[in-house]
Amino acid sequence: MIKVKTLVAGLMLSALPLQAQTPIYLDDNQPIESRVEDALSRMTVEEKVALTHAQSKFCSPGVARLGIPEFWMTDGPHGIRPEVLWDEWEQAGWTNDSCVAYPALTCLAATWSPEMSYLYGKSIGEEARYRNKTVILGPGVNIYRTPLNGRNFEYMGEDPYLASRMVVPYVQGVQENGVAACVKHYALNNHEANRHTTNVIVDDRALYEIYLPAFKAAVQEGKTWTIMGSYNQYKGQHGCHNQYLLNDILKGEWGFDGAVVSDWGGTHDTNQAITNGLDMEFGSWTDGLSNGASNAYDNYYLAMPYLQRIQSGQVGTAELDDKARRILRLAFRTNMNRNRPYGSMRSPEHYAAARKIGEEGIVLLQNNNQVLPIITTNQPRIAVIGENAVKMMTVGGGSSSLKVQREVSPLDGIRQRAAGQAEVLYARGYVGDASGEYNGVVTGQNLNDIRSAEELLAEAVQLASGVDYVIFVGGLNKSKHQDCEDSDRTGLELPYNQDAVISALARANKNLIVVNVSGNAVAMPWVKEVPAIVQAWFLGSEAGNSLASVLFGDVNPSGKLPFTFPARLVDVPAHQLGEYPGTPDEYGIYQQNYNEGIFVGYRWTDKQKKVKPLFPFGHGLSYTTFAYGKPKADSKTMSPYGQLTITVPIKNTGSREGQEVVQLYISDKKSSLPRPVKELKAFNKVSLQPGEEKEITFTIDKESLCFFDDARHEWVAEPGQFEAIVAASAGDVRGVVPFALD
Ligand code: BGC
Repeated sequence: MIKVKTLVAGLMLSALPLQAQTPIYLDDNQPIESRVEDALSRMTVEEKVALTHAQSKFCSPGVARLGIPEFWMTDGPHGIRPEVLWDEWEQAGWTNDSCVAYPALTCLAATWSPEMSYLYGKSIGEEARYRNKTVILGPGVNIYRTPLNGRNFEYMGEDPYLASRMVVPYVQGVQENGVAACVKHYALNNHEANRHTTNVIVDDRALYEIYLPAFKAAVQEGKTWTIMGSYNQYKGQHGCHNQYLLNDILKGEWGFDGAVVSDWGGTHDTNQAITNGLDMEFGSWTDGLSNGASNAYDNYYLAMPYLQRIQSGQVGTAELDDKARRILRLAFRTNMNRNRPYGSMRSPEHYAAARKIGEEGIVLLQNNNQVLPIITTNQPRIAVIGENAVKMMTVGGGSSSLKVQREVSPLDGIRQRAAGQAEVLYARGYVGDASGEYNGVVTGQNLNDIRSAEELLAEAVQLASGVDYVIFVGGLNKSKHQDCEDSDRTGLELPYNQDAVISALARANKNLIVVNVSGNAVAMPWVKEVPAIVQAWFLGSEAGNSLASVLFGDVNPSGKLPFTFPARLVDVPAHQLGEYPGTPDEYGIYQQNYNEGIFVGYRWTDKQKKVKPLFPFGHGLSYTTFAYGKPKADSKTMSPYGQLTITVPIKNTGSREGQEVVQLYISDKKSSLPRPVKELKAFNKVSLQPGEEKEITFTIDKESLCFFDDARHEWVAEPGQFEAIVAASAGDVRGVVPFALD
């Protein structure tokens, strides 16, 4: 080997073999683990400590001396957040940081399409990469436990299997860009009220069967490079430094080799932050300045207090090396990966992706008298009514708020689609929240209207009574106590007098279509009065275009609900059995018992038998019809080491092309522990031409039959009788095949 040290001339240096010039950690051809060890061996304790905490609102230092770049985080999860000031939440006012907003994750989950999820991840990952971000703070996979949770719109619904299947391709799509996903909020952050001072009490069965599977899938199948800890407590420790969740389960049982990132301001204790699994601390003292020192970041729990403990011998460096290794791994996977693509922003492909995901996620809840799709042959007159037809929805809602290049409103989308074929008129109907600002990003809309509720209603009713179709676009918005971070809703009802407006419109016109824009279930006391109901989510930049495609039938709706729409709040177990959100104990901590255990969502509805939901989990109609044939299994018994194949023919019996989400649930007929009536274990979204029939194949194995035995702390499949249930929704069973596990 040539000794590099003895050579001085640059000319001669460049003639050297690569390995002689390049330290291992900088050599792309070396395995990541060797690079990590090499980099670690060159670092001082101070440099390692510096890696573990932020230096600004969204950035942490690399190791400049070694050429390891800074780590830049960004929200997430629906688009790339605008740049903010160094120490503030306020946007920095750049003029080149607007983005494409993708539909909210509830909509993505409602596509029931892993392909859409991959497209989503790939597209948003390209935008993050172009903006030179290391980590996207998302996706979120906290289970939908109560429709009051202000952040459900950022998550993937109530079912652990559906959320697992949908999170994996998102993570993969993002990370192909050399940008890390940060799956959040791990774990048990199932509502927003008192989010920093809630301690969740949940049994191990529910933890492993309901609340953890999507995180586990993101780690083990998606190979996510980072995970964000949650604000709430579990077993008395905050999620960001939690021995049980982070060390025992995530890093222990699941073998996670990436970095745990704190939620912003979610770190509370230096000792726990050192020992209980946190790797990167962000957002402490979130105004960045109030700790009384010249640089608040030096006073982070994992900054000077950590260094002092090491220097005084109070703690060793084993934990520090582990954290540094994980962060270095992150660097080699992302900002030190020279082969990663360059990314792109606001491309036509990204808008097309946003539109398509929206179109596939919109759910047709009800379509009596086939009011939809809108027929334009006779040049109809259409009245569009409601604030959400015009209100920009990409600004607000908390950290997922965006600064978009453009957002097509439902009214604009309908107008553009109807141009030349129908006359479109508009009335406000009600005034909800006319504001439109978040951290300095303003919508620029003036939605002020000082007319009384009676005047607004009278105008809307008058308009509605003289047209062929009425499209009411309402629902929730991104304001506090609606679909918004850091607060929960105050009830299941629609706000702002909308129920009265809808009922009045139903009396005025029989062709009423109600479009509910929300990330949550809402009560629909008028459900029997309104022929057509569409669940339209928050659809992002292409909202109006996606919606118009479905309303006018250019796209046949194929979305299905990723959560149950309860008829009443009390039908939700968290509210029937729980003390949500609880009362604070003597220390100000809300002890939140998940009394319903594993019986969340349809698992609870099935158990109640008599209580019918408004719309069940998995429900969604189409403009065509599908006939399900008789399902068959390839065997009457399944060996614990084998598989079982279930086939079912599905035929499009209508007159237009459509997609159907065929769902497979498993029912355990006898078990030593109580089990849900049925649980989703497979699904397939199939596209069929009119008259076409396809055979759908589902393959299940022992894993689909297991429950988590908390006494033994392991997954168990007990021999005995099972049923494979083929269904169009949790409330619409189409065929049952019994089988036995040997
Ligand atoms: C939210 C996270 C978000 C972070 C950074 C927190 O308040 O809970 O989801 O990623 O802020 O904006």
